[in-house]
Amino acid sequence: MKKRIVFAVLAGLLLAAGCSGNKSAENTVGVIMPTRSEERWLKDGSAIKDGLEKLGYTVNLQYSDDDIPTQARQIDDMISKGVKCLVIASIDGSALSNQLANAAAAKIPVISYDRLLMQSPNVDYYVSFDNYKVGGQMGEILIQGLKLDQATAANPVIVELFAGSPDDNNSVGFYQGAMDRLKTYFDRGVLKVPSGQIERTVIGTLRWDAAEAQKRMENLLSAYYSGNVVLNGILSPYDPISLACLEAAKAVGYGSTPGKPLPVVGGQDCIVASCKSILAGEQYATVLKDTRTLGAATVSLVDTLMKGGTPTGLDTSSYNNGAKIVPSLLLDSVIVTRENLMTAVVDTGYHTAAALGL
Ligand code: BGC
Repeated sequence: MKKRIVFAVLAGLLLAAGCSGNKSAENTVGVIMPTRSEERWLKDGSAIKDGLEKLGYTVNLQYSDDDIPTQARQIDDMISKGVKCLVIASIDGSALSNQLANAAAAKIPVISYDRLLMQSPNVDYYVSFDNYKVGGQMGEILIQGLKLDQATAANPVIVELFAGSPDDNNSVGFYQGAMDRLKTYFDRGVLKVPSGQIERTVIGTLRWDAAEAQKRMENLLSAYYSGNVVLNGILSPYDPISLACLEAAKAVGYGSTPGKPLPVVGGQDCIVASCKSILAGEQYATVLKDTRTLGAATVSLVDTLMKGGTPTGLDTSSYNNGAKIVPSLLLDSVIVTRENLMTAVVDTGYHTAAALGL
């Protein structure tokens, strides 16, 4: 009797181990985010993980410390562990072709998350915001904040321009969207860039590094703004860059000297520090890309693929990654200023009032 019980328990344990082993291999989704050091990717990572776990999937979530070889290794490791689907937010969109080829050989579908994976045919889907529209909103922020429709060529508005990381395809959409929106003001001579630094390749910020942007802003201020020229606005593609530029401006008297108000600066990502700055009347605005919505869209796409289904309603013309048009799901973003911050950010639960110190 005793022997039989021991045998039954052992058999049960072995079965359970076997089952869970198989189940986790069959059910695992690999999710790779570029870095832990930016607020948004932490939110993205947990939105996807929580959503997939609620549906019963096992999630292997890794962050790559903004290091390309680390990211490549993590993907290879996930492939060799037998994940059934990969969700990748790249660091350098063009640096993962070998890994993507390995995934394709192992028949693992790849979803390019937020940032487009470039120059590879082995990218199955792209889930992101409409990056060109996001750029348009960055331009719109300057149009509103600087009242460009009332400006004249006799008294032009003075700005400097910043772009995102050159190896991130999103930077192209953000820049192009913003510049197309601002073009008419440049053409009419009501908007001027004293440094003459306008091309995306010249104004880019490798790895979206706010310290690098701050240094560039400091250099611009000392090289082009030493006389009576006052900087009125800054095109910024990313909240930490906006805050860093504001610091550089404050350091030379903006915001505390008559005739030198803080420049109008937009941003992107709606991070807590920028929301606080907007409420304090410093950063003018940001663009909210709700990571919960992007996460949910991704979870639903993964679920469809894991069940062998075919996703529908995708955009099949907008995103060419250099090797193919990648079917895309593109979400909408929202401009957030002091006027709508409570309704767009707090009431929707994106940040709590307490997190914003309210
Ligand atoms: C994302 C932005 C983010 C930036 C820096 C871009 O690819 O779309 O939301 O601000 O990377 O992480």
